[in-house]
Amino acid sequence: MTETLDLPSDEKTGPRPKRLFIKTYGCQMNVYDSERMADVLRPLGYSATESVEDADFVILNTCHIREKAAEKVYSELGKLRQLKEARDGALTIAVAGCVAQAEGEEIMKRQPAVDLVVGPQAYHQLPELLTRTARARGERIGADFAPVDKFDALPATRGVDGVTAFLTVQEGCDKFCTFCVVPYTRGAEWSRPVAAVLAEARELAARGVREVTLLGQNVNAYDGEGADGAPSSLARLAFALAEVPGIDRIRYTTSHPNDFTDELIEAHRDLPQLMPYLHLPVQSGSDRILRLMNRKHGRQAYLDLIARIREARPDMAISGDFIVGFPAETDADFEQTLDLVRQVNYASAFSFMYSPRPGTPAATMAAQVAEEVARARLHALQALLTEQQLAFNVSRAGLTVPVLFERKGRHGAQAIGRSPWLQSVHVEDADHLIGEILAVEIERGQQNSLTGRLMQQKAA
Ligand code: SAH
Ligand code: SF4
Ligand code: F3S
Repeated sequence: MTETLDLPSDEKTGPRPKRLFIKTYGCQMNVYDSERMADVLRPLGYSATESVEDADFVILNTCHIREKAAEKVYSELGKLRQLKEARDGALTIAVAGCVAQAEGEEIMKRQPAVDLVVGPQAYHQLPELLTRTARARGERIGADFAPVDKFDALPATRGVDGVTAFLTVQEGCDKFCTFCVVPYTRGAEWSRPVAAVLAEARELAARGVREVTLLGQNVNAYDGEGADGAPSSLARLAFALAEVPGIDRIRYTTSHPNDFTDELIEAHRDLPQLMPYLHLPVQSGSDRILRLMNRKHGRQAYLDLIARIREARPDMAISGDFIVGFPAETDADFEQTLDLVRQVNYASAFSFMYSPRPGTPAATMAAQVAEEVARARLHALQALLTEQQLAFNVSRAGLTVPVLFERKGRHGAQAIGRSPWLQSVHVEDADHLIGEILAVEIERGQQNSLTGRLMQQKAA
């Protein structure tokens, strides 16, 4: 498609370098998508800038999950419009992601400064859209869900520069929890073929990546086509990825309890490359609320699953998501959530006040919970989760663990690495070890990180 592009160019200097600024909201999949948008635009001469003032092209990659996330987009667009006016229109503004999918037309109406709106399954068309908007403003695309076209069209190269990377293997959701917009913004569950995932993993490894996090809205529902033409499971995909030279660590997120198979549990027992950290949201500890949420599993099934996972991998750290103040949630329901949290003992977790989303069944349910009540519950839950996270981090002190050194720290020769449990580990005199996985003795655990000292020097 490149030949159809009419890029502004100067015959002596070649294409004028153009600056791209992408602001990413929401989940890791949006982070991945933002990187891929940069990959798509690089051949057109766009290079990344950290500052919006330098940008020729700004993309807001948006999130629709809660009202606050969606509203932020409009305030950001207001600021961009001023910048565009100050430059007499010399700024291209695109809205991508889940708000683009959910309310594309409204965006165009509310903010005429927006040049184009592109949904999560259509950003591979950005180059073509850009040339079209140069002629006619106000293009909107991406109402259909066919991730297969997108992945086929994305460039094989990835502009990663770190030692860890995201890799989307599955998109969409068929679960329809009653509070959630994702099935509407990301469409039906769809998995990339194993060969495509392996090819991307090899590309990442060639660029120095040692740890991949496989992404999917329901990543453990992965059923991409395998080499034999039959669907492969996430467990089998993990075993195949572990064979890719250079890929030493594998993570995946986000899992749904109902798609957690025995095979995947066994993979955690048998495959050392699978890291002992699992994000497994439950949302509530009350069976009554879980039913209203259409989670399709009960409290005990979740607890039993965690027990089986821990039996297979005793050092498994569990993380989760919680919603408080879901319609009709009583104090007794909330107590059940606190009780479940005490039983599981989370290494980390995210918790949110319920936010009614237009078009979802829960938004019109009776007995919406008052905001003050929900806020008080959120504080109580977060206090407990914060305490558990600190206790987990403190419990690592004294252990010697393999740390993947990721980046330079703030002071001196400090480096920051990742523990197997996804904690940041600060180590002095290690900034020459970026990209290495080395043994570190953990000296202290803090609320959000660990501090350790190097046990093993780099092998000569
Ligand atoms: N696929 C994942 C979660 C995707 S959304 C899963 O099944 O768990 C990420 C988190 O946002 C959810 O786990 C939930 O805790 C939160 N969330 C989703 N919709 C929400 C809403 N309407 N209000 C508040 N939190 C919400
Ligand atoms: Fe949303 Fe539920 Fe699907 Fe997760 S499983 S993305 S919470 S509908
Ligand atoms: Fe948000 Fe879309 Fe992710 S709604 S959480 S960016 S899938």
